[in-house]
Amino acid sequence: METSKNLELALKYLNKNFDRFVEELSDYAKIPSVSAKGFPPETLEASAQWTAKRMEQSGLENVEILRVKKAPPYIYGDWLHAKDAPTLLLYAHHDVQPPGRPQKWLSKPFEPQVRQGRLYGRGVVDDKAGGMMHLAALEAVLKTSGKLPLNIKFIVEGEEETGSHHLSEFLKKYQKQLQSDVMILTDTANLQEGTPSITYSLRGIVDACIEVRTLDHPVHSGMWGGPGRDALSVLIEILARLWKANGQIAIEGIYQDILPPSQEEKKALASLPFKEESFRQQLGLVPSMAFSGEKDYSVYERIWTRPTLSVLAIDAPRIQETTNQLVEWAQAKVSMRIVHGMDPQKSLKQLCDFLAKDPPLGAQVTVHPGAAGEAWHTKPQGPAFEAAQRALKKGYGQEAVLIGCGGSIPFVRPLTEAFGGIPALLIGLEDPLCQAHGENESLSLSDWKKGMDSAVHLYFEKFV
Ligand code: BES
Ligand code: MN
Ligand code: MN
Repeated sequence: METSKNLELALKYLNKNFDRFVEELSDYAKIPSVSAKGFPPETLEASAQWTAKRMEQSGLENVEILRVKKAPPYIYGDWLHAKDAPTLLLYAHHDVQPPGRPQKWLSKPFEPQVRQGRLYGRGVVDDKAGGMMHLAALEAVLKTSGKLPLNIKFIVEGEEETGSHHLSEFLKKYQKQLQSDVMILTDTANLQEGTPSITYSLRGIVDACIEVRTLDHPVHSGMWGGPGRDALSVLIEILARLWKANGQIAIEGIYQDILPPSQEEKKALASLPFKEESFRQQLGLVPSMAFSGEKDYSVYERIWTRPTLSVLAIDAPRIQETTNQLVEWAQAKVSMRIVHGMDPQKSLKQLCDFLAKDPPLGAQVTVHPGAAGEAWHTKPQGPAFEAAQRALKKGYGQEAVLIGCGGSIPFVRPLTEAFGGIPALLIGLEDPLCQAHGENESLSLSDWKKGMDSAVHLYFEKFV
């Protein structure tokens, strides 16, 4: 009886205070907490301070900034007064991607603006709304009933967007403090706006840079072109070898270790709604272009269950600056998303070996291996997932769907493993319109509200 009254009070509180939460999220997103190299680290300090203060306002206790070496600050807060109740670990990140090209933003990246039900700004959906959603929900419960039905530990990371490089040291130092029974990460997507989604798989990621040198200095392309060859075209020749005509990756053995989805998972995948036209539109695919990838796999299968390769960047002279010379040097960054079963170190080696093998005409090729992060996969079954299904259904007024995710979150696997395989519930607010990492990143405010309501429902659910 008391429980349902407390829940109602909290939901009412969320309704009443929603506009203020939008303002607070806007303030949070005004802090340009970019974790990428070359951006000022003070902004991450500022967003850490903001997060810590906001945790205290929500009624969390023992709020502190956790530090390891030169890593951007993590923020921790808890509420641990629910005797004999489980402990829930909440996760979000406060670092954001660089803003990209300023002229492409319709409103300034760090001056959030509401337009047609969406809040626009860098980091609003990835992932400041994820953190703020729980801060609002926790505040709602604590301010109305003075207590929570379960124990909460809340951790907010500051280096997710750069690959969580200090994660293992962080865990060594703080694992005990974070020990919990269930984990909720609020940093993934909904299949569509309005469709609550639980993510049960993430792809891993490996990348490498390839450098090609053909000459020790640039030379006149008319005088030497023929026997002399530019490095850029050699680089392109190597990159072009990466794909087969049928859309598969040409690296031998790359598909060998994949653990394919179970029959059950395949059935679930096939039952998800998919409209080709709206998918094309949301992707922004040029009208003449067909989907890339393996024809035997559905679109969702290609994103969630198959590896893919892309060339992220090339360093070469700008067209404006060309002077009819053969380029002596060029480099490219190649990235591969990997899936369940694939070993990141092995995949990275396969990629690097492929790029270094048989350079055209014996050109000088150097490959620099980069990141190697593992994929993650879980069976979305058991009391925690059932609790999440019920809570999301109540919050969104719609049945939750189970989805995979083509992106990566380095935190998930090491954390759940450190705690003996505790269930990890991945939910979030990114949607096909959100442009995470791109210009004009945005959050659906109606989904944000539904997410908050769901969070409150979730705290009152039984999940162990
Ligand atoms: N929130 C994303 C992960 C994500 C991607 C969720 C796509 C839903 C859909 C996260 O912030 C992210 O961008 N992760 C990086 C990790 C990388 C730096 C190791 C990614 O996937 O590129
Ligand atoms: Mn994120
Ligand atoms: Mn991101």
